[in-house]
Amino acid sequence: MPDKRIGILGTGHFIPSKVLTNQDLERMVDTSDEWIITRTGIKERHLVEKGTPTSQIAFLAAQDALKGAKLNPEDIDLIIVGTITPDMQFPSTACFVQAKIGAKNAACFDVSAACSGFIYAISIAESMIKSGQYKNALVIGAEVLSSITDWQDRNTCVLFGDGAGAAVLGLVNEGGILSTYLGSDGNQTGLLYLPAGGSAMPATIDTVNNRMHYLKMSGNEVFKLAVKAMTDAANNAAKKAGISSVDQLDLIIPHQANMRILLAVAKRLKIPEEKLFLNVTRYGNMSSASTAVALDEAVKEGRIKKGDNIVLVAFGAGLTWAACVIKW
Ligand code: ACO
Repeated sequence: MPDKRIGILGTGHFIPSKVLTNQDLERMVDTSDEWIITRTGIKERHLVEKGTPTSQIAFLAAQDALKGAKLNPEDIDLIIVGTITPDMQFPSTACFVQAKIGAKNAACFDVSAACSGFIYAISIAESMIKSGQYKNALVIGAEVLSSITDWQDRNTCVLFGDGAGAAVLGLVNEGGILSTYLGSDGNQTGLLYLPAGGSAMPATIDTVNNRMHYLKMSGNEVFKLAVKAMTDAANNAAKKAGISSVDQLDLIIPHQANMRILLAVAKRLKIPEEKLFLNVTRYGNMSSASTAVALDEAVKEGRIKKGDNIVLVAFGAGLTWAACVIKW
């Protein structure tokens, strides 16, 4: 029997309407529109209303993806949410999404792989469907990063936004996922992390007073590792898919961390800028939601045509990295 083909049946996304511009940030911390644009390419990002949980925007993205896949919630037997901003430490955000959409036949869990979370989740869902135990998986990348952003720290607060993207995976007759490639380096956990609130440093008055419940990052070091990790991941996924070089692919959908990182990756991969899907200017870095939202936007804007070969590629805290080649 030929290998089962697992592909994307539908995609969706949700971006909150509230916009935070660079000019707004100029009034909050010692920064400038000019610094943010030249160092990151970001002009604005979108934020949820305070108190909106990740599952709410994940639910809205999921509804959009289900519509695209022309499936009912009951058809979904697996929900995986990639997120570093879960509603709660437990239960999983995937369970909250399940209840909101009414996918009563689904098994649910979250994946913590930071910005690589959506691609990690795709890879897991693909394997679980391939095993024959599951049929239709709802894979979501969703983040309310505004809830862990230190709005007094100019080194990080200019970078992040909130959003959610989703894809429904299932069996397809043609095309589908050609390869996935995942990796991580646990020696780099100190470059990007949220110190308090876990078992290593439970919440106390001191952790709150010392702003330990906010994301900390060594931006410069992450930057250098990111360029190498994304380039290697894209090359390795292409090789696994039997594609000799990334420049043979029709579209590269990278994690949207920083325009300079993306242009450096394109240069190393020897691909023209036109082959990169970019939305970092409008949304900033939405961690696991970035690749998920970008995928849906690329589909809806007609940037991906039937038969195209595309690659999703990301890196994030851990460090983690991931890539996935899909024939559309
Ligand atoms: N406005 C003005 N000045 C600033 C700002 C700001 N918002 N932020 C930092 N600066 C200053 C710094 O204090 C520093 O000043 P100094 O030279 O007087 O000390 C100077 O600008 C340069 O700082 P660098 O950190 O060297 O700037 P860099 O060019 O590296 O840009 C940035 C910083 C944008 C953070 C970049 O390093 C980056 O994008 N890194 C990768 C981030 C990332 O991709 N994270 C991973 C994913 S996130 C996740 O997994 C959740």
